[in-house]
Amino acid sequence: MTIEILTVLPELLTSPFEHSIMKRAQERGHLTIKLHHLRKWAINKHGQVDDYQYGGGAGMVIMCEPLANAIDELQEEGKFDEIIFVTPDGKTFDQKDANTLSLKNRILIICGHYKGIDQRIRELYVTQEISIGDYVLSGGELAAAIIVDAVGRLIPGVLNDETSALTDSFQDNLLAPPVYSRPANFRDLQVPPILLTGDPKKVDQWRQEQALQRTKERRPDILKKD
Ligand code: 6GU
Repeated sequence: MTIEILTVLPELLTSPFEHSIMKRAQERGHLTIKLHHLRKWAINKHGQVDDYQYGGGAGMVIMCEPLANAIDELQEEGKFDEIIFVTPDGKTFDQKDANTLSLKNRILIICGHYKGIDQRIRELYVTQEISIGDYVLSGGELAAAIIVDAVGRLIPGVLNDETSALTDSFQDNLLAPPVYSRPANFRDLQVPPILLTGDPKKVDQWRQEQALQRTKERRPDILKKD
């Protein structure tokens, strides 16, 4: 899978993909990340990509031409399966969206800045608008990094133990159960004895119960989801 990101701040998006699972996904050839600096498609020699908004008001808007020219040029190599604009007024991203995106071949993520991007680009090019939650970030880059991480780890072959994504929180509308490692007794807190029995069926059943209990307590809203 190839994920391309169009941004005025590519520097914000280097380190997040240079470690751990994202690094391995790229080394193994499952994931290719291409960062594109929007300034490359600036409208003048000053590197301008944004302008004042019609109607007045504070904040700049990323202009049509740099975005349209960038997208057109990137699509000369072939169409994107999805063109995603990350924005607080988009659909709230969830695990189901991550699963769906992980099956795509090539996607583009457009990061907004300032007051956002010209509405006409959203109408002409964008196929999905995604928010990562009900709060406002200074720009779309960190949101894009989160989407790439959530999607990238789900690409078949990326995780070592293929089943480990299946036991993630949210994957089955349940939060993950508590986990423990050595020592069995830490400051008088014991590991639940059932985990020490070596009986995989009992352990599995306990984990299921714990997951359900946790979800009921903390996130009853996700239990009702499809
Ligand atoms: Cl995608 N962008 C920005 N700027 N803020 C956000 C967001 C995205 N999602 C939640 N807040």
